[in-house]
Amino acid sequence: MEQKRKIKLSNEEEFIEIVKEVCRESSFPETEQYIQHGVTSVYRHSLAVAYYSCWLAERFQIKVRKRELIRGALLHDYFLYDWHDKTEGRHFHGFTHPGCALRNAARDFNLTRVEKDIIRKHMFPLTLIPPMYREGFLVCIADKVCSTYETINRKKVNWLLYHMNWNY
Ligand SMILES: [Fe+2]
Ligand SMILES: [Fe+2]
Repeated sequence: MEQKRKIKLSNEEEFIEIVKEVCRESSFPETEQYIQHGVTSVYRHSLAVAYYSCWLAERFQIKVRKRELIRGALLHDYFLYDWHDKTEGRHFHGFTHPGCALRNAARDFNLTRVEKDIIRKHMFPLTLIPPMYREGFLVCIADKVCSTYETINRKKVNWLLYHMNWNY
């Protein structure tokens, strides 16, 4: 299965190390219990977004602060609740969850301004202010591509990346 993967990062070990570090230092693994779209958990969605953001940067040779890109992307949906449950006044989840994710992430990490910007602005253009850094734009794009893919393939995701063993 690994061989069939069309995309691969130049330094996958580095990516995995950062994922492990974020898992160790926060409640990020908890996001596995919340569904994002269809059959995809917030955990897998966030990993996919981080991975594709990095891949886009490499593919188009965009100079990025890689560590910050990966950490910001992993934490962009770190809101830690089930957004399908509308009973607790979460009707405006689309607008409010970046702020919630940022508060949770800032509680667990010393975030850089690039990481904060990625999390806060990832819903652009829904939230009107665009990202300030290249890293934020990449996450914005990767998030939309992954979300669309997960929503279309609601019952079964076939994209190989979603089947990788990411349990840290
Ligand atoms: Fe989001
Ligand atoms: Fe997202």
